Amino acid sequence: MQSLSNVLASSSLPTSLQNVLTTTTQTCIDISSTLKKGSLAGILGMAGNENVQGEEQKKLDVISNDMLKDALLALPEVRAIASEEEDDIVPAHTDGEYLIAFDPLDGSSNIDINSMVGTIFSIYSKKGDKPATEADFLISGNQQVAAGYVLYGPSTMLVFSTGNGVAMYTLDVDKSEFILTQASVTLAKEAQEFALNMSNQRFWSDNMQNYARDLIAGKEGPRQKNFNMRWVAAMVGDVHRILCRGGIFIYPWDKKDPTKPGKLRLMYEANPMAMLIEQSGGKAYTHTHRILDIQPTGIHQRVAVILGAANEVDKCLSY
Ligand code: AHG
Ligand code: MN
Ligand code: MN
Ligand code: MN
Repeated sequence: MQSLSNVLASSSLPTSLQNVLTTTTQTCIDISSTLKKGSLAGILGMAGNENVQGEEQKKLDVISNDMLKDALLALPEVRAIASEEEDDIVPAHTDGEYLIAFDPLDGSSNIDINSMVGTIFSIYSKKGDKPATEADFLISGNQQVAAGYVLYGPSTMLVFSTGNGVAMYTLDVDKSEFILTQASVTLAKEAQEFALNMSNQRFWSDNMQNYARDLIAGKEGPRQKNFNMRWVAAMVGDVHRILCRGGIFIYPWDKKDPTKPGKLRLMYEANPMAMLIEQSGGKAYTHTHRILDIQPTGIHQRVAVILGAANEVDKCLSY
C-alpha cells in the first residue's frame, strides 16, 4: 500500500509540481476534516454573499476557498490562483512556476443534506518571472500539467492525473494521508448509465431532447438497450461514478439563459474532468468541440459538457 508522498517522491515529476500537489491534497484533507464536523461546527448554511457566478455562496464554499487560497498563496511555487469563488485571479509569487484553478467545493447544494461534495483542481505550468494576469490563465486545457478532484464521500478519495493515466487514492484518516488504491483507471467504451438533470429537458436543443428520448425509450426504442439514470447534483460524484462504473455525464446547453453556453465552468470543472476522462480512455466534448481544445476567453467561462464512455459520447454528438 503506497502513500501519495511515496508515489510522488519516486516519480519523475518536478519537485516543484510535487509540492503543489502535496499542498493541494493536504489542504483537501483539512477540508475533509472540517466537513465531517457538519452542523456541530456551525459551518452549514448560507454565507450571505453572491459569487461572481451569480450564485448564493454557502459558508462552506467560502471556508474551503479560503483554506485552498491561503495554503496555495503561501507556496513559493505558485504564480497565481483562480477560483470559482473569487472575482479575479489572485497573484502570488512572480517567479512561481504554476497557475492553479479550482472549484473549492463542488456540489454545494448537497452540503446541507450531508451528501456528496468535492474539490476540483487544475494545474498549469508558467515560465518566466512576471506578475500574473488573467491572460496567463487563458490557455487550453491541453496544457494542464495535472488535474484531479477530491471526493468527500463515505470515504475521502483523491483522483488525479499528471498526463500519464488516472490513479485513485483513499484517505487513511488515522494517518491523514492518501493511499494508492487503484493505480490505473480504464473507462469502458460503451455506457449503461447516464447522468443528466432531466428536469431541464424542455429547455434543451431539439437534438439533445431527441437523444434523451431515445435513451429513455430503452430496449423498445431505436437504441435497443436499457439505460439506468443517476444524478448526484455534484459533478465530482457523477464523474467519479463514471470512472468507477462507466457511463456518460451531460450538462447540456439550455435556453433558460441563452447568454450562457452551459452551466459548468470551463476552468474549474470541465477542463480538469475532461483531462481525467480522456486519460482513462473516454471522451469530453461540448456540443461541437473537444473541451481540452477550447481557447478560453475568460476565467469564469461556462461550457456545455458531454463526457464519459467514448462510443456513447460519439452517439450523443451524432444527434
Ligand atoms: P458548484 O456547487 O461548484 O456551483 O457546482 C454545481 C454544479 C455541478 O457540480 C453539478 O453537476 C451541477 O451544478 C448540478 O446542477 P443541478 O442544479 O442542475 O442539479
Ligand atoms: Mn457554485
Ligand atoms: Mn462545481
Ligand atoms: Mn463550487
